Amino acid sequence: MAAPINVVVTGAAGQIAYSLLYQLAAGSVFGPDQPINLRLLDIEPMMGVLKGVVMELEDLALPLLKDVLPTADPEPAFKDAAAVFLVGSMPRREGMERKDLLAANVKIFKIQGEALDKFARKDVKVLVVGNPANTNALICSHYAPSIPKENFTAMTRLDQNRAQAAIAARLGVAIDKVKNVIIWGNHSSTQYPDAAQATVEVNGTSKPVPEVVKDDKWLNEVFVETIQKRGAAVIAARKMSSAMSAAKAAGDHMRDWWFGTKPGQYVSMGVVSDGSYGIPKDIVFSLPVTIQNKQYKIVQGLNISSFARSKLDITAKELEEERAEANTVLQQ
Ligand code: NAI
Repeated sequence: MAAPINVVVTGAAGQIAYSLLYQLAAGSVFGPDQPINLRLLDIEPMMGVLKGVVMELEDLALPLLKDVLPTADPEPAFKDAAAVFLVGSMPRREGMERKDLLAANVKIFKIQGEALDKFARKDVKVLVVGNPANTNALICSHYAPSIPKENFTAMTRLDQNRAQAAIAARLGVAIDKVKNVIIWGNHSSTQYPDAAQATVEVNGTSKPVPEVVKDDKWLNEVFVETIQKRGAAVIAARKMSSAMSAAKAAGDHMRDWWFGTKPGQYVSMGVVSDGSYGIPKDIVFSLPVTIQNKQYKIVQGLNISSFARSKLDITAKELEEERAEANTVLQQ
């Protein structure tokens, strides 16, 4: 059996972590042959709660879980980290706008970027879940200059999963029959969930989703808005932000990064823009990618309609604004 790898989860005493940790310990993300050491980072006042989480991890009695370290200190947490889930931050509450969150959270991601730079493996894979996820990932990468920028990604997989589920429900097909729905841009209400490139398998044949849905108004308006506002709808109903589905999406994202995507399929990830599709460089923008050997490649050559172009520009503008606000906060 392989040597254990260090896997870090921040916000380890929180809601998302509570669902994520079981997946990690059970081998659903790094596979059944990869033992792991869990490094659980949270803030000092949460150490008591984290102790309870550690007890539960012990009680899972799972053989892949070798060692668990609960801590409020970034140094031992990030030491030799191979994979990192940056979940810890202040969650969005009902009625709270993402911009309010930004100021509180970018400082956390600066500190964690610096700690990653000093203590983590240089090939560490960092997935940022904590909001505003795209901009936090940008900040984190900026403060970890010794780690390649490609190793920092932000999670839009929950949006992708939501979009795939909405199309499957609309067409009355199983979820795995729907492929290649794209989330472009920010993990926010400006994101553009795009079914124009998606396919659905009907009676064993793969067809474009727009051809099968036959309702552009639904695809361009109802579908887009439903996915954009799904997070807020869950908060309104549950009085807390999505956690079970967010943890599942985080596992999906990291598993695909680790093991690669299936032939002919792509997934959406917030990655540092290289200017593809006319997206401004140096923002973390959700794009369709394929992955092999733990390296992602941005899918090229997709047709961008003028409708899509306008949506991409809106979400890119928001990300540029977030970057400017983050820089202002960090300079204060
Ligand atoms: P939660 O409030 O249950 O847990 C957050 C945890 O982070 C708390 O235990 C808190 O003490 C900890 N924390 C705060 N500052 C920290 C720091 N500096 N270092 C380490 N830990 C720290 O929140 P929940 O529901 O687990 O959500 C976590 C984040 O994920 C939120 O920002 C939320 O908005 C975001 N989120 C992102 C999604 C996405 O699709 N990208 C989807 C759903 C949530």
